[in-house]
Amino acid sequence: MDVDQLMFRDGLMQGERILVTGGGTGLGKEMAEGFLKLGAEVHICGRRGGVCEATAAELMERHGGKVVAHACDIRVAEAITEMNDVIWSQHGPLTGLVNNAAGNFISRTEDLSVRGFDAIANIVFRGTFYMTHDIGKRWISEGRRGNVISILTTWVWNGGPFVVPSSMSKSAVNSMTQSLAVEWGPHGLRFNAIAPGPFPTEGMTKRLAPGAESTEDMNRDGANPMGRIGRMHELVNLAVFLMGPGAEYVNGQTIAIDGAAYNATGGNFSRLSQWSDEDWTAAREAIQATNAKDRAQRTV
Ligand code: HXC
Ligand code: NAP
Repeated sequence: MDVDQLMFRDGLMQGERILVTGGGTGLGKEMAEGFLKLGAEVHICGRRGGVCEATAAELMERHGGKVVAHACDIRVAEAITEMNDVIWSQHGPLTGLVNNAAGNFISRTEDLSVRGFDAIANIVFRGTFYMTHDIGKRWISEGRRGNVISILTTWVWNGGPFVVPSSMSKSAVNSMTQSLAVEWGPHGLRFNAIAPGPFPTEGMTKRLAPGAESTEDMNRDGANPMGRIGRMHELVNLAVFLMGPGAEYVNGQTIAIDGAAYNATGGNFSRLSQWSDEDWTAAREAIQATNAKDRAQRTV
């Protein structure tokens, strides 16, 4: 990200301590960088401990400040509690949480096994709840204000053909956002969500556009009204707006940042109806090779 494109003054997020799940890579890493640049202490977690450590070192090298890496699998509720105990006791209470970690891959739904469904739902649906629940309870019992952003997709509004476990799980997190904004609002806790269109990350491109040369290819039919994919600083500016001070009255909202792709075309994968059996076999093989490569780096 070009940090010069941040819209906010230096020091805006001084005093904030924010956990970004899945902050070792992709959009999570970009948001972590933005928060750090603006003065926050940042914690990141993922299953690939080495990837998180390398990201923390890289960001501190670039901006100074404090980024702490945690190896944590958010599918495991006890592991979440352990990590949050460490954060609270060794660093201090969090002020914000970004539910960014996710798993996804394109597949015809009839080709999914139960394990394939669970691989995604256990991260997005269950893991996101476990994390929010653990941190929310701490904030409530300690009488602290807190702020949660969840990273969703626009298909929470119109469904996600060929990504059904993701679509179902992200829709549930959308419902969590709306529900807890009301239930936990009186405790001083806020819940909002961001629904990005395609932004260039390796994790997404390799699983949702396997075979594409780059994420830019996801706009190859020119279907996006803006004629392009998203730029990282645009997403980070929105995340800072929601997480930083000054917009506290925004609560219970899910905001799209997709160049109006959702309005224009639905913004989902309906076009994959045209794929042949051979296309699906090739995609599955490519995705599973990526999964295996990433799995080999996991430390938890
Ligand atoms: C069908 C598949 C498959 C595929 C995996 N499976 N890939 N089924 N088609 N392409 C099945 C496997 O066969 C297996 O079932 C089951 O899923 C579990 O596979 P594992 O590889 O053992 O899973 P695991 O190691 O737990 O990995 C989880 C994962 C992986 C979700 C599958 O992709 C992952 O860790 N992802 C994290 C990062 C990520 O996905 N980032 C993208 C986010 S982008 P069987 O029955 O065979 O054992 C995103 C963007 C959306 O969300 C918006 C864009 C506009
Ligand atoms: P990514 O780089 O693959 O990010 C996913 C992150 O989640 C990885 O760092 C991964 O780390 C972490 N993660 C996955 N399972 C986890 C688990 N069980 N416990 C802890 N961490 C876990 O992909 P991305 O594109 O940046 O996606 C980030 C978020 O944006 C996701 O919620 C995605 O759905 C959303 N999104 C992305 C786009 C886009 O165009 N890029 C569009 C819409 C929405 P480990 O593998 O090390 O655990």
